[in-house]
Amino acid sequence: MRKFFSIVLMISLISVLSFGGGTIKIGVDFPMTGVVAGFGQMTLDGVKLAHEMYPTVLGKQIELVVMDNKSDKTEAANAAARLIEKERVKAIIGCICSSNTLSAGPIAERAHVPMVSNASTNPLVTQGKKYVFRVCFVDPFQGKAAAIFAYNELGVRKAAVILEVSQDYSISLAKFFKETFKKLGGKITKTLFYVTGDQDFTAQLTSVLATRPEVLFVPGYYPEISLLVRQARQMGYKGYVLCGDGAEAPELIKIGGKAVEGLYYVTHFDPKMAASEMTGKFVDAYTKKYHKGTDALGALGFDAYLVLRDAIQRAGSDDPQKIRDALESTKGFKGATGIITIHHGDPTKSAVIKKVENGKFVYAGFVNP
Ligand code: PHE
Repeated sequence: MRKFFSIVLMISLISVLSFGGGTIKIGVDFPMTGVVAGFGQMTLDGVKLAHEMYPTVLGKQIELVVMDNKSDKTEAANAAARLIEKERVKAIIGCICSSNTLSAGPIAERAHVPMVSNASTNPLVTQGKKYVFRVCFVDPFQGKAAAIFAYNELGVRKAAVILEVSQDYSISLAKFFKETFKKLGGKITKTLFYVTGDQDFTAQLTSVLATRPEVLFVPGYYPEISLLVRQARQMGYKGYVLCGDGAEAPELIKIGGKAVEGLYYVTHFDPKMAASEMTGKFVDAYTKKYHKGTDALGALGFDAYLVLRDAIQRAGSDDPQKIRDALESTKGFKGATGIITIHHGDPTKSAVIKKVENGKFVYAGFVNP
């Protein structure tokens, strides 16, 4: 018995010595259930991989505390509050959907706990905030990239837009797409709306398709995009479909089937980017662990974790205020998705254009800022 206790004592002594006697808690605020649960799973895969590869910082173990925001704005704010007040996390990774980050962000801001979003692209997410950061590009750039691609690469001049009116992401992306498309000389033939959960888009499509657009721009999320595009094809629409980053999830192809073949979208990652030596490391480790191809959300989740860990390292402390200050001065960080330098909360990065081909997401081009 005594021998057993001394072994236990020795083991705990070793872990105290090697991990500095504690853990650093990082909260994760993701949609693990609800309408866009697919996004939560893809991102968590990337965060977990990064955690597995780099589990410690400052000689301490990093502990991830995952909270499900159920794809909902109120729940996203509640999850942030619980992570901060109950779990006492030092920083938060999240959210994914801009509307959720816009509602959880102010909670982190008030509590002076830094938050890093991997994927929220609406400009307001970081605007005027001192504690909210992101590792992805923003919608003014994403919308511009989509418009340039449509005008120059697809060669179209008439676009119609169908957007989700309650998602800040959809609203901003539609706005910036339209702005650039018109500036280039293109025409927006019609703009119509839907809300999350809608299943029948025939009313909007009837009116939109009557304007004979050459491209349908749908800056929404995969559940509605897949149904909307199916209905558009059933109604005889033969033109292009172009979306934003919210299209990418395996469910798009599962639900959309043949109808989403040829669909183009703007996104954040492709192995071809070779942004830094981290790209290859990420791709190799990811495919080895999950036995599937990489995706943008996983890569961005991976980078969000690493940027945060790097900030803690540079801060030399797990004090949330010091982590915030270090995040603000992130410069030239070699991520899987790009070289990340944060300026006013945001990095400047390249966009990737992808296409659905034979039931797979394939690389179709780059757009540089
Ligand atoms: N950009 C989306 C938003 O702001 C989130 C997203 C990013 C979803 C990348 C999928 C892939 O809401």
